[in-house]
Amino acid sequence: MKNFFIVIEGVDGSGKSTQAEKLAKWLENKTGFKTIRTAEPYILRELILGRKDLCALSELLLFLADRAEHVNKIIMPAIKSGFNIICERYNDSTLAYQSGGHEIEFSSVKNLITACKFPEPDIKIFLDLSPEIAFERVKSRNNQNDKFEAEGLALIKKVSDFYRASEGLIKINCDNLDEEQTFSAIISKLEELN
Ligand code: TMP
Repeated sequence: MKNFFIVIEGVDGSGKSTQAEKLAKWLENKTGFKTIRTAEPYILRELILGRKDLCALSELLLFLADRAEHVNKIIMPAIKSGFNIICERYNDSTLAYQSGGHEIEFSSVKNLITACKFPEPDIKIFLDLSPEIAFERVKSRNNQNDKFEAEGLALIKKVSDFYRASEGLIKINCDNLDEEQTFSAIISKLEELN
């Protein structure tokens, strides 16, 4: 059995952290390999999310710089050590938010990501929660300092549409599922891959 690099994607408020925690425990038991949980943005979080005046291109380049550090310091060393990795957000977040949400041309974002040669995840899971439900959760966190959350429902809808139309993601419709049911849905999709 090999170690896995799994990415969890979804709009803000879709429950990524809860599922990442459950999945990390499950994967560690299943494979017997140590499992690292990590998330993006990695080191530039405050710089990117705290600056509402950044233009879309700077934002894109900063997310890629952040990923370069994340890959270099955490992801590649973990892969080489034979650990599993569960990562919240990765390349598909950049495509969904910077292209889908902030309308930078898709091919430009895609080409930049390709040029960075970041390692490809083995599995990418998209938690598909309706934008309205996700937005209610985000509002209750009341984190207006996060520039993306401050952009509200309009951004979440665009990002969600983008993810839904994307290929290569295992899509889990979470609208009528509680945390445990969502987790079961993820596991049954993963078991189908065997
Ligand atoms: P988080 O709150 O889910 O940790 O993510 C922080 C925000 O950063 C979230 O609104 C999505 C956004 N983001 C991008 O716009 N592009 C990216 O490449 C990444 C990793 C995050």
